[in-house]
Amino acid sequence: MHSLMLRNIWYFGISSKDLKPGQIVHREICGVPVAFGRLSSGGAFALRDICPHRGVPLSEGRIRGAQVECCYHGWTFGTDGRCTSIPALGENDNVDLTKIMVRVFPIRESQGIIWIWVGDGDGADVPTPLVPNVGETQPQIVHALEFAVNIDHAVVGLIDPAHTPYVHESWWWRRPGEQKDKKKNFSPSKLGFDMISHRASSNSKIYRLLGGTPEVEIAFALPGIRIEHIRAGRNFYCGMTACTPIDENRTLTTHMMWWSIKWLSLLRPIAMPFVRSFLAQDQAVFAKQAKGLRWDPDLRLTGQPDQQAKWYFRLKNEWERSAKAGKPFKNPLTDSTLCWRS
Ligand code: FES
Ligand SMILES: [Fe+2]
Repeated sequence: MHSLMLRNIWYFGISSKDLKPGQIVHREICGVPVAFGRLSSGGAFALRDICPHRGVPLSEGRIRGAQVECCYHGWTFGTDGRCTSIPALGENDNVDLTKIMVRVFPIRESQGIIWIWVGDGDGADVPTPLVPNVGETQPQIVHALEFAVNIDHAVVGLIDPAHTPYVHESWWWRRPGEQKDKKKNFSPSKLGFDMISHRASSNSKIYRLLGGTPEVEIAFALPGIRIEHIRAGRNFYCGMTACTPIDENRTLTTHMMWWSIKWLSLLRPIAMPFVRSFLAQDQAVFAKQAKGLRWDPDLRLTGQPDQQAKWYFRLKNEWERSAKAGKPFKNPLTDSTLCWRS
């Protein structure tokens, strides 16, 4: 499985909480160095994290007014990437500052998430993922982890139902030996597929805490976004997991949670270790997988438990194909039912 990082799509860049006014933060996305910054006036921006003078990351500098100032010789840049001053230049030195530019990445900030476009153009006609029910509120919990595998393995691991009883076995989630036959209906969405609303698995104890009979919807979309939406009576819970390639071999997976139940917020300090341990279980198995992948083995996607993974690759190929042809993306999937044991 050779990983291809889609470029012409919105990726989760950074959580709004991690970018305070006046802050500038380094990230690597699709093998590209990115400096996310926020002016004290609140506006966020993203620039290539390399000063065009001597290559020092701009994120090592600071924000001054509406400018980014490099830490080495104090060159300043606007959030549009244009160089605005070179302090060492004397009056008789005629340098055209407008010729000095840093690449700007389009961003969109909503629901506590800064999405980034690392491709060509501005991504104006491509939608960013939207969490239902939560309006513009920020998630109550944000937890990010680095997985030692490429985006494809991270995404396949995210939508793979068969690892759950082996990797996520624990007293608070489900006990071993509780595997059941599952039958789920799927339908294509704009950029992916939805698992149609159904009654939550009765062997998931945590759902009972929500009250009422929960209805669960799981939406998967390119480039690797999974949104789980649980409604129980008047309450809801929403979880978003977003995969962003750091480079060809590493993936940042960020898990965000929103909920409506007030008393659950009191449980936040208790909930955090569960979220951490759940994702740490995935992280640990990906680290083991990376050991095997060093030998570049042939792999197989087998049967209905791996069907969602096959859909992911079909969607991705189709996305890339239509982008290359300059045609609008048409989802190649159809309504289907899948059966497996987990
Ligand atoms: S390296 Fe940035 S100003 Fe010189
Ligand atoms: Fe998992």
